Amino acid sequence: MKTYDFRSDTTTRPTERMRQAMANAEVGDDVYGEDPTVILLERKAAEMVGKDAGLFVTSGTMGNLVAVLAHCARGEEAIMGTQGHTFLHEASGISVLGGVAMHTVPNQPDGTIALADLEGALRNPRDYHQPISRLVILENTQNDCGGVPISLEYTKSVEAFARQHGLFLHLDGARLFNAAVALGLPASELASPVDSVTFCLSKGLCAPVGSVLCGNQDFIRKARRLRKLLGGGMRQAGVIAAAGIVGLEEMVERLAEDHQLAARLARGLSEIEQVHLSKNSPQTNMVFFKIDSSVKLSTKEFLQAMRQEGVLLMDSGPGEYRMVTHHDVDEQAVDVSLSAFRKVLSRKC
Ligand SMILES: Cc1ncc(COP(=O)(O)O)c(C=O)c1O
Repeated sequence: MKTYDFRSDTTTRPTERMRQAMANAEVGDDVYGEDPTVILLERKAAEMVGKDAGLFVTSGTMGNLVAVLAHCARGEEAIMGTQGHTFLHEASGISVLGGVAMHTVPNQPDGTIALADLEGALRNPRDYHQPISRLVILENTQNDCGGVPISLEYTKSVEAFARQHGLFLHLDGARLFNAAVALGLPASELASPVDSVTFCLSKGLCAPVGSVLCGNQDFIRKARRLRKLLGGGMRQAGVIAAAGIVGLEEMVERLAEDHQLAARLARGLSEIEQVHLSKNSPQTNMVFFKIDSSVKLSTKEFLQAMRQEGVLLMDSGPGEYRMVTHHDVDEQAVDVSLSAFRKVLSRKC
């Protein structure tokens, strides 16, 4: 039986064109700054997000970690949302490895953080009992709030706040291109208010590995040293960077198809009595939903029953599930999964 994997867009496999580009990539030692394909990827990435320079890193997690360590010294504080990936899903790397404290403030249902909450999180720099506020981190799209694209106006309002208080602003743009496509704006515009931005090549853009961290020249010089410190200096990395270049050239516009597919999936789910869409999804490529309490299946049993029907999905909190559309699923996969839902839910009600 064919299996359809809706757990995440990280499950995408490289396209045929990517595999060809990887096989033919011109390479050198990137730690010596001599890999032409990595250099090309970094330039292209920086240009697309409107920054001076880029740094190819192993993952979104490493991109965020390097960015925070470049902006903050030990004992300083980064302000971020309680639903932020940096807070929830990155093993507290910024604290463990960088001595940077996480100051969390609530994300609103629309993925933003209220300016009043940011204001309330500020420390008094004249009081030596307090840590030093140094950085604000935003996420776009905001994954755990529903894959929400965050507007340029909002990001600009946080920029104004950060400037007023002498803070840096970092954007976890793992899915920045999904936000750009959903909002109909260039990624460079969406990232224009922030000092640094990282985005992933390995999610909807389908490359097998990697993210790019972008910012000004000085920041990226510092970040390059930190990447080395963390063991992230890669040698003939052009082999993987080549797939990233194809991702940027060929896979950005088509993210709109993933969003349309998520809308189709959500329409189908909304017609199933025991399924309740949640988090105002879908807004990009993620569909969140709850299963009615009348269904007497544990999370584990439900996921297992769906797996037996050839559909993989993830739980995303108590009684809540997430499905993500991407290049490796299509309308047929959506239709098969909707039938699986009907079958599993009717069987066990
Ligand atoms: C919003 C967000 N930021 C960062 C990451 C981390 O990316 P990676 O898995 O490449 O470390 C993810 C991964 O899913 C993510 O969803």
